Amino acid sequence: MTGRLAAALCAVMFAPVFGQADEARPRPDVGRLPISANATAEEVALGDRIFHGEAAGGTCFQCHGWDAKGTTNGNDLTVGSLGWGESFSEIKATIKHNMAVAPGQDGDLTPADVHAVTAYVWGLVHQERIARQAQR
Ligand code: HEC
Repeated sequence: MTGRLAAALCAVMFAPVFGQADEARPRPDVGRLPISANATAEEVALGDRIFHGEAAGGTCFQCHGWDAKGTTNGNDLTVGSLGWGESFSEIKATIKHNMAVAPGQDGDLTPADVHAVTAYVWGLVHQERIARQAQR
């Protein structure tokens, strides 16, 4: 009982810090994201679930926001450019780098999971880039 109470208290205490599903910040429509030539629609869909904590113990949304538009703990991934580069290989290298410097923080990702969540982030970034190009 005590353990369960402690776990519940921790969840309450850390929820505001780490975030949770937030209807005020709508989840991006994964079916509308562009798909990199390096990935499949299935991988993008898996990446969406990893990002939102529904597969592989992913925790991305806790810092980057349910809508991926960032929190005080992680930057906006939807603005069309990324500080560490927005190509597929650059995004993957960034995620791998972050996993190496903070082991376990991103969940329990296999190389296939990293590939999938890279495809998802690529889709988020490039949705905005394509929208901008279309306005020119
Ligand atoms: C504990 C908080 C936290 C978690 C969890 C987290 N991130 Fe991040 N992430 C950050 C912060 C902070 C940065 C900015 C680091 C920097 O720019 O040096 C960042 C940077 C990034 C970047 C690069 C952004 C840029 O501008 O180049 C990507 C892409 C990214 N994260 C994706 C992910 C993915 C995918 C996951 C889940 C597998 C994840 N992050 C989990 C905090 C987090």
